[in-house]
Amino acid sequence: MERLQKVMAHAGVASRRKCEEIILEGRVKVNGQTITELGAKVNQTDLVEVDNIPIYREEPRYLLLYKPKNYISAVADDKNRPVVTDLIRGIDERIYPIGRLDFDTTGLLLLTNDGDFANLMMHPKFQVEKIYIAKVQNIPTRASLNQLEKGVIIDGKKTSKARAKLLSSNEKNQTAILELSIREGWNHQVKKMFDAIGHPVMKLKRERFSFLDLKGLEAGMWRELTAFEVDKLRKMAQGSSLDI
Ligand code: URA
Repeated sequence: MERLQKVMAHAGVASRRKCEEIILEGRVKVNGQTITELGAKVNQTDLVEVDNIPIYREEPRYLLLYKPKNYISAVADDKNRPVVTDLIRGIDERIYPIGRLDFDTTGLLLLTNDGDFANLMMHPKFQVEKIYIAKVQNIPTRASLNQLEKGVIIDGKKTSKARAKLLSSNEKNQTAILELSIREGWNHQVKKMFDAIGHPVMKLKRERFSFLDLKGLEAGMWRELTAFEVDKLRKMAQGSSLDI
């Protein structure tokens, strides 16, 4: 659900502030009912009319991008660095990334123009499994990986249970490749978790988001999610006792 004035502004009716005035003037109907107070929320299927004219709602789009490194997970950057939406051609709707990967992180990133869906995916109660592949400095012992799995303190909070697996190690360079599966999505979480056990991350890739992976894509490529995939994600999120 999104605030009515936000949906109206997004559809190009006017600025959000002006849309609030239009609502207060009683010029807006949702599913035939006049709304005169702020605070109403609507979803993608609600019919919104301003002065009895339906507003244009963009078709919802759901994309899976293999983010290359050196792209910002945003639609614009004040320092003019490349942004992930630069990689998406042929989509007219105003899509934006769901959450973010760091500038130097590669891998699976979802984008959409559906605010409900984005909120569902990012809601802390939707503890979807995310799998990362990390190259780290030095070779962690099983004991320090156990520590990662049990939870480490980052930014004053303990991470929940995770799974960590050593995939390979290079004795000469003193580096290791690991798989880490986590369920939260805090800022720089993976890097901070490895920092916490004394193994700074040198390279990071998100390999999976729930049942989605990067099969068939190379860095910089994207595809649309299927209706089945979108439904499945939505049902999984709603099934995880979200009160939204
Ligand atoms: N954790 C990080 O540290 N960085 C990312 O980009 C994603 C997860």
